[in-house]
Amino acid sequence: MCGIVGYIGSHQAAPVILEGLSKLEYRGYDSAGMAVFDGKKIGICKSVGRLKVLEELTHGGATMPGTVGIGHTRWATHGAPSNQNAHPHYNQEETIAVVHNGIIENYLPLREKLVSKGYQFVSDTDTEVVAHLIDYYYKGNPLEAITKVMNRVQGSYALGILFAEHPDQIFAVRKDSPLIVGQNEDGCFIASDVPAILKYTRKVYFIENQEVVRLRADHMHFYTVDEEEITKEPVTIDWDANAAEKGGYEHFMLKEMYEQPKTVTDTLMPRIKGNDIVIEELGMGDEEIKAIRKIFIVACGSAYHAGMTAKYVIEGIARIPVEVDVASEFRYRNPILEEGTMVVVISQSGETADSLAALRESQKLGHKVLGIVNVVGSSIAREADNVMYTWAGPEIAVATTKAYSAQLIALYLLAMKFAKVRGMLKEGEFRSMLGDLKRLPGQIERLLANKQRIQRFANRYIGAKDVFFIGRGIDFAISMEGSLKLKEISYIHSEAYAAGELKHGTISLIEEGTLVAAVATQDALFQKTLSNMVEVKARGAFVLAVTNEGNTDIEKAADYCIYIPRTNPYFTNSLAIIPLQLFGYYVAVGKGCDVDKPRNLAKSVTVE
Ligand code: AGP
Repeated sequence: MCGIVGYIGSHQAAPVILEGLSKLEYRGYDSAGMAVFDGKKIGICKSVGRLKVLEELTHGGATMPGTVGIGHTRWATHGAPSNQNAHPHYNQEETIAVVHNGIIENYLPLREKLVSKGYQFVSDTDTEVVAHLIDYYYKGNPLEAITKVMNRVQGSYALGILFAEHPDQIFAVRKDSPLIVGQNEDGCFIASDVPAILKYTRKVYFIENQEVVRLRADHMHFYTVDEEEITKEPVTIDWDANAAEKGGYEHFMLKEMYEQPKTVTDTLMPRIKGNDIVIEELGMGDEEIKAIRKIFIVACGSAYHAGMTAKYVIEGIARIPVEVDVASEFRYRNPILEEGTMVVVISQSGETADSLAALRESQKLGHKVLGIVNVVGSSIAREADNVMYTWAGPEIAVATTKAYSAQLIALYLLAMKFAKVRGMLKEGEFRSMLGDLKRLPGQIERLLANKQRIQRFANRYIGAKDVFFIGRGIDFAISMEGSLKLKEISYIHSEAYAAGELKHGTISLIEEGTLVAAVATQDALFQKTLSNMVEVKARGAFVLAVTNEGNTDIEKAADYCIYIPRTNPYFTNSLAIIPLQLFGYYVAVGKGCDVDKPRNLAKSVTVE
């Protein structure tokens, strides 16, 4: 996620901004920049790379004198990491400077409109549109221009804005992307997150959606989008600095689990236009989509598990044959990729060596590759023929959660797009599924609220030796991810099994008290999975069931039930995985494991 810091007061702004940005580095970024008013004009310095590069360029801020400024660390979403795309962004006359965290979903039509009015762009970012749009509406009154922009842009934004004609003020604006402001005897601050200003003040104001703040050196004013002044109560932060980096959460993993409603929204909503799905970055027209005869999905770990889910969804609704392979196998088995085969490589980091090799192998065999990637400008993103980003923001915890959830969304969208273009989905069905997709963020939120109950259950299994996850169809794919979440951070042996396969050997491992997590969200297979639950229970297993609300029959065979809200059967992974993530997390916490950095694991496996 991008980081924003701003300062106006009696001290030099640049050093305060650099210090604040350094406390936001944990959020992940690829470039950094600052804008400071030097008494005559707004100077900007920005560069791709680590914050250290900016510090060196500005000699610790000394080359940017002035007491009012804004700064930014960029996590690329639109436009690869580069000096040009780094923030802040100017208007043409360089009298307005903007830093932004979030995604302007309608930036393309706005950009076209501004170009038609003579505006020239120097970057590929959605943020530069905001700088020019403010300029377009600015007639001398910053607040008026800002609120007009707020009524025109769609998407999520936290903005810091400087006006050269109003050098005694900074403006901060928020919609969906977090933003706080604070004050002490030396000035006023804006920041994306508490750690950036904790050194200066523990009394902060959390900006709500569609609120604007005008900061001066010694006071702040708060406004609504209708320019009505409002009063706000400050909050006193009692976190220590380390906790503050995690937004008050104990671990990044927990913080990222709680970001899932937003990452699902950010990946989904920009691709839903009215009652249609528009995947601009797909690079395929309807005829090409109709010509697909087979899809190969290649990935590793959790990304592979997302691919397994996609197999059931794409084959189920688009009726296109799908083969899913782990990249380390695919790259060496001389795969048979026939005419009309589309290859999809899924990767959060975009740097996984095996997945990158699989991409290159596919292209060598003459096939185009679609990358589904989270890190903009990563190797897989750059080398894929087309890339569909999962806008999950930087994922710090080694065990993926929010990026995995975003991958599922990208794959559902792909499947529905293909199904509709190939005439496999009626309009009514399509719209009903769109409605189900839009309800997922709120349903995930409801499941996350369940964490205490999951924690209590998890505490019973801190001493477990073996845990089995079973399911059929999509429930088998869910089981794979649930099993990996548990074992990779708690170090407890766990396996996922197709429920119908258990009796062909592995059931001999079930002993008195062995935990078996049965995932039963596929109503069409519910009775079959119920039978498998009875089978393992008869051999002494303790059965945890994850199923849809209303399936109370399951209580005949389960010892402990977790119900998920009803959704389309193709989307249940997005919900069932939430309690399983929480389960793995709380078992690991109960064991005192290093949840964010599990032993032997790396966030990105860039070697074979
Ligand atoms: C999942 O929690 C692990 N971090 C791991 O399995 C990961 O999914 C795998 O290494 C693939 O990484 P990628 O998505 O960055 O390619």
